[in-house]
Amino acid sequence: MATYILGIESSCDDTSAAVIDGTCILSNVIANQDVHRKFGGVVPELASRAHQQNIIPVIDRALSIANINKNQQHAVAFTNGPGLLGSLLVGTSFAKAFALALDIPLIQIDHINAHVLAHFLHAKDEDKKVPEFPFLCLLVSGGHTQIVKVNDYFNLEILGSTIDDAAGEAFDKTAKIIGLPYPGGPLIDKYAKEGNPKRFKFPHPSAPGLNFSFSGLKTSVLYFLRDELKKDPDFITENRNDLCASVQKTIVDILMGKLEKAVKQTGITQVAVAGGVSANSALRNAFIAKQEAGEWESFIPKFEFCTDNAAMIAVTGYFKYLNKDFSSQDSTPYSRSKNVSGNSK
Ligand code: KG4
Ligand code: ZN
Repeated sequence: MATYILGIESSCDDTSAAVIDGTCILSNVIANQDVHRKFGGVVPELASRAHQQNIIPVIDRALSIANINKNQQHAVAFTNGPGLLGSLLVGTSFAKAFALALDIPLIQIDHINAHVLAHFLHAKDEDKKVPEFPFLCLLVSGGHTQIVKVNDYFNLEILGSTIDDAAGEAFDKTAKIIGLPYPGGPLIDKYAKEGNPKRFKFPHPSAPGLNFSFSGLKTSVLYFLRDELKKDPDFITENRNDLCASVQKTIVDILMGKLEKAVKQTGITQVAVAGGVSANSALRNAFIAKQEAGEWESFIPKFEFCTDNAAMIAVTGYFKYLNKDFSSQDSTPYSRSKNVSGNSK
C-alpha cells in the first residue's frame, strides 16, 4: 500500500518540498535564495521573507510533479530545527495548517537526523544498497561536523564533534579570505579541480579523541595570505586554484583522519557521509578510494541529497509515521541542536 508523505524544509536559505511514497522519491523541488549573495552570508530576515514567497509555489510544484493530490497525503513532515527561527516558522506554520485542514498527522523532523537518513531514499525502479545498523556517518554541513554511530533511524550516538567551526564554515570562511562569494564551499571545490593540492601546506589543528577543530586553519590561511600579499599584491589571483586545492585537501585530510580512527575504534566498516559538505568532490573521492582499497564500504548520497532538501525530511517523516511518532500543534521550532536524535518522545 502506498504511503504518501509531504516533506517541507525551510531551516536556512532553501525552500524545499518533496513527496515520497515510503522511501521512494516522487518529487523534490528546491528554490534557492540568491538575495543573500551580495551580503556574503545568509541574512535571516531576508531568508524568512523569501520562504514566505516561495513556500506555496514550491509545494504546489512538488504535488504536481508527483501527480499526487494534497488529499491523498498520509502525513506532513517538516523541519522544526536546528536552523534560523524565522525561516523555520514559515515551514512550521504551513505544515500545521496543512495537517489541520486535511486532518492528517503532523510530524516534526530534526534537520541533522534527516541528513543522515537521506541514505534511505531511492528513485523509482532504483535498486540501491542502504547501510545496515549500526553504521558510522560523517555528518558535515554548514553548522555541524560530527562522527555519528547510527544505531537505528532515531538512535544516533555522537562519537566526535567539532569544538569550534564546522567543516562547511571552514570552507566558507577560508573562501571569504580568498575573496570568493558566499557560499564559498562549492567554489573552492570548483577551483580546486584546476589546482595543485600539495602546493601549500596548512597545519592540522589538533582536537582530542574523535573531535575536530577548524578555527586554526582559517587563522593560518589568513596570516599566510597577509604575509604573501605584502610581497606580491596579486598573490591570490595568481595562485587561486592552488590555494583552493590546498585548503580543500587540508579539510578533507582532517575529516578522513578522524574517520579512520573511528573505524579502528569501533570496528564498524560501513561508513556514510551526509550534509552539504558531502557534495565536495575531494571528500567523495576519498570515500570512493577507501572502498576501492577494501578498508570500508562507503555510502555517498546522490549529489541532490547532500545539500538541504525536503526529500530527506519526508523520508525521516516516513520512519516516524511507521512508529506513529506524531507531533502536536504545539510543536515549536528550535535554533540549536540539542543532539542529533530526532525522537520527539
Ligand atoms: O547541509 P547544508 O546544505 O546546510 C546546512 O544544514 O548547513 O550545508 C551547507 C554547507 C555550506 O557551508 C557549503 O559551503 C557547503 O555545505 N558545501 C560545500 C560544497 N557544497 C556545499 N563545501 C565544499 N564543497 C562543496 N562542493
Ligand atoms: Zn543541512
